[in-house]
Amino acid sequence: MESPCRICGGVVKESIDLGRQPRGNGFLLPRDIENEFFFRLAVGMCDSCTMTQLMEDVPQEIRYHDSYPYHASGSAVHRKHFEQNARYFLEHELTGPDPFIAEIGSNDGVMLATIAAAGVRHLGIEPSAEVAEMSRAKGVRVLPEFFDETTAAKILEEHGPADVVFGANCIAHIAHLASVTRGVELLLAPNGVFVFEEPYFGTVVGKTAFDMIYDEHTFYLAVRSVKAMAELYGLELVNAEPLALHGGTMRYTLGRPGMRTPAPAVAEFLEQERERGLGEHAALQRLSASMEKIRHDLKSLLVKLREEGRTVVGYGAPAKAATVTNYCGIGPDLIPFIVDNTSAKQGRLVAGSHIPVVAPERFGEADPDYAVLFAWNHAEEIMAKETVFQARGGRWILYVPDVHII
Ligand code: TMP
Ligand code: ZN
Repeated sequence: MESPCRICGGVVKESIDLGRQPRGNGFLLPRDIENEFFFRLAVGMCDSCTMTQLMEDVPQEIRYHDSYPYHASGSAVHRKHFEQNARYFLEHELTGPDPFIAEIGSNDGVMLATIAAAGVRHLGIEPSAEVAEMSRAKGVRVLPEFFDETTAAKILEEHGPADVVFGANCIAHIAHLASVTRGVELLLAPNGVFVFEEPYFGTVVGKTAFDMIYDEHTFYLAVRSVKAMAELYGLELVNAEPLALHGGTMRYTLGRPGMRTPAPAVAEFLEQERERGLGEHAALQRLSASMEKIRHDLKSLLVKLREEGRTVVGYGAPAKAATVTNYCGIGPDLIPFIVDNTSAKQGRLVAGSHIPVVAPERFGEADPDYAVLFAWNHAEEIMAKETVFQARGGRWILYVPDVHII
C-alpha cells in the first residue's frame, strides 16, 4: 500500500500493519461499546524525506475533543521536567524586552504555569476544553483552537512575533504538520526558536516500543526527517538532544536559516541514524518482526500464568496499553483490570480490549502476583511508589524491549 507523504508529497510505502485498532485514548464507558470507533493502524516511510508516518489518520476533532483524558501533569517526573524547560526558556530565550512564548498543545499547563508565574507573555494553543480549563486555573492564557497557518497569522497579529514556539508530545500528533511548520515560520521572531520534544523513532525501533504506535502518533520523528522538514519549510535544524522521557524522546530546536550555529549533535545523530539504517524501509520491517515475537511471548506468558492460577493485573493505562492489548489479543479474561491515577480514565474501559481502568488503591487491595507495567516509561517513579507490592513478592511483567519478569 502507498499514500502521499504529509510533509513532502513523496511516496509513503507501508511496512507495518497492526490491523483494526481503536483510538489509543478512546477510554470508553460500557454503554458506548456499540458505537466504538475503529480504523486501520498501519505505518510506512516516505521514499523521499524518510518521514515515518501513519498510512491513515483519525480526524483531529475525534482525538482532541473536550474531555481528552491525557493530563501531562500526572507524573512528578514530567512536572519537574516541564518546569525545568520553562526555567531554561526564561533564562536563555525570553530575555529581551517583553518576550513572548507560544505553546502548541499546552495541555493542562504543565510548562506554561511556570512562565505565567514569572509574568512573561505567553499563549497556550489547546483545543481540548477540559485540560485548557485546568491550565487556566494555573493562570495560563489559552487559545482553544488547533494550531495551523491561519491560527499562526491570527496570533502574530494579536501578540506579535514569538521568541519561542514550543510543543511537547504534540507536534508529531498533528497530521497537518506541514501547515503547522509554515505557521511557525510565519510566527517566529528573527532569532526565535521552534523547540519540540517527541518520542524518537530510533527508540521505537531500538526498543521495539511498538506501543508508541497509535492513532495520535501520526509521525515517528528522527533527526534526518526533521532536518528535511525544516529545510522544506524555510527553517534550519540547529540542535537535537536526547531525553529519557517517554522511554526515549528527542528534543529538536529549529531556527531561521543562518541565525544559530548548529550544535555538533545534529551531524552526530545524522551519522548514527545512517549507521543504524533508520531511514530505510528495512528498519520498519525489522520492527514488524520483533513486534510479532513480543505478541507471541506476552500472550503465552499470560495464558500460562492463568493456567497456574496466578493473579495478574495491569499498571498504568497510557494510550500505549490500547495498542498492546488489542494487537496481542489481551482482554479482561487475562488482565481483569488496570490501575491508573488519571481520574478521567477511571471507571472507563481501555479502547478495543475493554479492560476496566480503576483507581490505584485497587492495586494494594487486590495484592496480585504479577502486574503488567503498561506505563513502562514511568517504571522508576511507579516502582518507587509500589515497594509494598514488591516486598510481598509481587513481580513486574515488562514487554519492552522484550517480554521479561523482574
Ligand atoms: P504516558 O506514558 O502517556 O505518560 O501515560 C502514563 C499513564 O500512567 C497515565 O495514564 C498516568 C499513569 N500513571 C499512574 O497511574 N501512576 C503513576 O505513578 C504514573 C507516573 C503514571
Ligand atoms: Zn516525505
